[in-house]
Amino acid sequence: MLPLREKDGLIMLRGALLNPLSDTECEYYFDALIVARSVHGVTTIEEVGEASDIAQQHGWHLEEFPQSEGVILPAFYDIHFHWVQDDVRHKPKTSLLEWLETHTFPEEARFSESAYCETKAAYFWSRIIATGTIGGLCYSSIHSTALEAAMRHAPDGFRIGNVLMNMSCPEYLKQSTEDAIQSIHDGANAYENRYCVTPRFAPTTSPDLMSAGARLAKENGLFMQTHLCETNDEIKHTLNLYKNIPGFEDIHTYTEIYARCDLLGPKTIMGHSIHFEQGEWYMLARSDTAIASCPTSNAPIEDLGLGSGLFDFEKAEAEGIRWALGSDIGGGPYLCMFDVIDSFERQNRAAGKNGNHHIRALYRSTLASAGILGFGDHRGNLSVGKRLDCIQCTAKRGIEPDATSASVLKAVIGQASERGRFEELVLSTVVNGAIIYEASR
Ligand code: GUN
Ligand code: FE
Repeated sequence: MLPLREKDGLIMLRGALLNPLSDTECEYYFDALIVARSVHGVTTIEEVGEASDIAQQHGWHLEEFPQSEGVILPAFYDIHFHWVQDDVRHKPKTSLLEWLETHTFPEEARFSESAYCETKAAYFWSRIIATGTIGGLCYSSIHSTALEAAMRHAPDGFRIGNVLMNMSCPEYLKQSTEDAIQSIHDGANAYENRYCVTPRFAPTTSPDLMSAGARLAKENGLFMQTHLCETNDEIKHTLNLYKNIPGFEDIHTYTEIYARCDLLGPKTIMGHSIHFEQGEWYMLARSDTAIASCPTSNAPIEDLGLGSGLFDFEKAEAEGIRWALGSDIGGGPYLCMFDVIDSFERQNRAAGKNGNHHIRALYRSTLASAGILGFGDHRGNLSVGKRLDCIQCTAKRGIEPDATSASVLKAVIGQASERGRFEELVLSTVVNGAIIYEASR
C-alpha cells in the first residue's frame, strides 16, 4: 500500500525518488518527502527534497510519514500507440506492410461493434494504467464506437484520434472522404483538445482528406499525428502511389507529401521518422514538427519488432527537433514504457552510441513527451509546481544513500526477469494525488 498521508490540508509522500530533468540530469533522493496541496481539484507539488530537511523546517516528526517501498518516479507519457492493436502485438511480423494487411487491419475492423469496443477498452485502459502510463498520444480505429469507448476509459492525459482512411486499404476499413471529414468535426466537438486529427499515413489517406484534416486541426488548435518513413518498403510504396496523384507527380520525398498537405507544425507528431533524406530533417526542423520514436516496434524481428531500423536521435537533436518515446502497441510488442526505455538503451549501446541511454530514455518517456503534448508546465515530472502524478516501482536492490540516479534506474530495470515483464515492476499509479491503481499481492 502506498503511504500517501494527509496533514494540515497537505498530501505527503515519502520514499526513494527519481526525478528526470533533462537528457543528462535526473535527481535521486534516497529518502525524499513530497509535499502537495489540493486546490480546486488539482493536487500540485509545493515542496520536494530530503525528507529530514523538509520535516525539520515544518516542525514535523519524520516518523509520521512512513517510507514507501521501492522507488517513486513520474508516471509515463507514451507518445505513440494504437489502443486497438492490443491483440496483434504478438502476431508474426515479417514487415510493416505485410503485418498491417494480414493481422492489423482485420483486427481493427472488429471495432465497428460497440460491445467489442467496450470489453476491449475496459481491459486495455486498466492494463496500461497498471504499467505506469497515464497519458500520451493514441491511434484508434476508423470507428466512432472505438473512439467513444477509449475516451470514456482513458485518463485525461491521453489525446486520441480515429484513424482517417479513404484509399488504398481494404474496403472494410475504407471511409468516404465526407464521412472521414465529418468524424473530425464530431471528434473536435465532443472531445475538444483531447481529440487528435489522425491521418493513418499517406498511403491510406488522400491528399484532400489530409489537407482538410490539417485545416480543421489548425482552426481548432488540435494536435495531429501520422506515420512517416518507418521502413524502406513503405517509403517506396508511398512514393509509387503518389507519383500517380495529380499535384504530387514531382514529389521526391515522403515528407514533402505531408508538407504539401500542410500537416507539418508544432502540434504535429510524426511516428518513427527513421529513414530520412537530409531535406526531410530540415523540413521537420523548420516547421518545429515533433517525432515519436518507438524502439520496441522498430527493433529486429527476433526481438518481436517489425525490424524497421534505428532512429537517429543524435541527428534529430543536432537539427533541434523535439522527440519523445512511444510503445507503438501493437507494432511494438510491449505495453510498458520500461520495456521501451530498456530497448532504447540496448539498441543504441549495440550501435556504439555514447551516453547514459537509460536516463535519456526516462526523460523522453516523461517530461519530454508530456511537453510535446502541451502538458509540460504542469505535468511530466516531480518538481515543484507539477501535478502529483507518479508511479511506485519495486526495487529489491540498488536503493542506497550513495547510489546515483543512473545506478538506481539500472537496478530497477535489471529486476525484470524478461522483456514484457516490466509491467510487473509497477506497484501503484497515482494521478492528481489519488491512487488509481495498486498491484494486488
Ligand atoms: N503505418 C501505418 N499504420 C501503421 C500501424 O498501425 N502501425 C505501424 N507501426 N505503422 C503504421
Ligand atoms: Fe504506429
